Amino acid sequence: MSTATTHGGPRLPQERRLVTEIPGPRSRELLARKQSAVPPGIGTTLPVFVTRAGGGVIVDVDGNSLIDFGSGIAVTNVGNAAPRVVERVQKQVADFTHTCFMVAPYESYVAVCEKLNALTPGDHEKRTFLVNSGAEAVENAIKVARHATGRQAVVVFDHGYHGRTLLTMTLTAKSMPYKHGFGPFAPEVYRVPLAYPFRWPTGPDNCAEEAAAQAIDMINKQIGAENVAAVLIEPIAGEGGFIEPARGFLPKIVEYCRANGIVFIADEVQTGFARTGHMFACEDEGIVPDIITTAKGIAGGLPLAAVTGRADLLDHVHSGGLGGTYGGNPLACEAALGVLETIEQDGLVERARHIGEIMLPRLRALQEHNPIIGDVRGRGAMIAVELVVPGTKEPYPAAEIARRCHEQGLLVLTAGTYGNVLRFLPPLVIPDHLLEEGLSILEKALNVD
Ligand SMILES: Cc1ncc(COP(=O)(O)O)c(C=O)c1O
Repeated sequence: MSTATTHGGPRLPQERRLVTEIPGPRSRELLARKQSAVPPGIGTTLPVFVTRAGGGVIVDVDGNSLIDFGSGIAVTNVGNAAPRVVERVQKQVADFTHTCFMVAPYESYVAVCEKLNALTPGDHEKRTFLVNSGAEAVENAIKVARHATGRQAVVVFDHGYHGRTLLTMTLTAKSMPYKHGFGPFAPEVYRVPLAYPFRWPTGPDNCAEEAAAQAIDMINKQIGAENVAAVLIEPIAGEGGFIEPARGFLPKIVEYCRANGIVFIADEVQTGFARTGHMFACEDEGIVPDIITTAKGIAGGLPLAAVTGRADLLDHVHSGGLGGTYGGNPLACEAALGVLETIEQDGLVERARHIGEIMLPRLRALQEHNPIIGDVRGRGAMIAVELVVPGTKEPYPAAEIARRCHEQGLLVLTAGTYGNVLRFLPPLVIPDHLLEEGLSILEKALNVD
């Protein structure tokens, strides 16, 4: 067994090692303190407190080393404490920590924007500005689209997730836990169907055509295309359950937007930065968004997000109309430059594909003899299984299976409109033997009878 990461991260032994039950005594003490100090609205997926992480493992306060299939929700794509990120941030923190880019600018912000303008789909002229979170990026993309079109309506999709602020919570589909009790919501948000192959009423074959036709019909009848500022969609629905829209659906929606002067916004907050085996998931069907929102994997865990889009749209907003105190903080910008270098120099796009090539066949083989697995799907290192009550499509709760994995030292996340999806987002630097071991743990956890 290898004892160090092959793809960076601190030199932590790349092994699963359980020395206490999960959670151990020290984590239990800290959980009790958390319960007294932090409101229950802030949940806990894996009930252990972390001391170190790197490569494919997370080490807790009791000395347990757990396999990481979560990457802090698709954030540490380059691994935790990735060497190029650490080096750049350490230097920056000693040089200066903040001036506010709108007050006194610095080069790293501009360098990140130049990189995103070059790397995002399409070779048209682009602009980028930086903010702090995925939700803030989405809010700003809507601001830009409304300003540039002079229209107000925003169209979003069933199963979509876009954040927890007032507007992005409104844009999000699922009530519990994201919206329940938090209304009233923002006006001028309209929801249309998503081409969800596994659950499309007439089956997967006509899903793309039918869903696009329904969505377009609803927009035309209920809103009027001329009133729509933006159509906003995740190219793979993340929190909604890693739903890949049936092929052909996204191009039809883009075509409709182009024909009607509607800004097409791709929310790549979860899918971006090599995660899906492309730098951005839109590339899979050759989609070129008018605006693309990114966050999460952009800066290896430092808070950063971006709005990148057509120069004519972003240049439309008056001076001072965009920004914020911390957006594009110098530490986060240096981290982002370290992330982008790492993705490029360590071939992490290819590495994501390799992870998919290991995971998908094993999960599909598992599906053949385990009827609790209704669907296996995903691209690159963004993979999910949708659980069902055997012989039906009724959702089977994923939380129970996730807890069994956690007890065995494998961190997995759940998702899905119906709470029945296990999602896997390993760091792209995870060694193969940990992937295989994680899958073996999962296989056992899925044996429910
Ligand atoms: C697709 C998508 N958009 C937006 C967000 C919100 O990002 P943040 O939590 O950084 O505000 C998320 C977070 O999970 C997301 O997955």
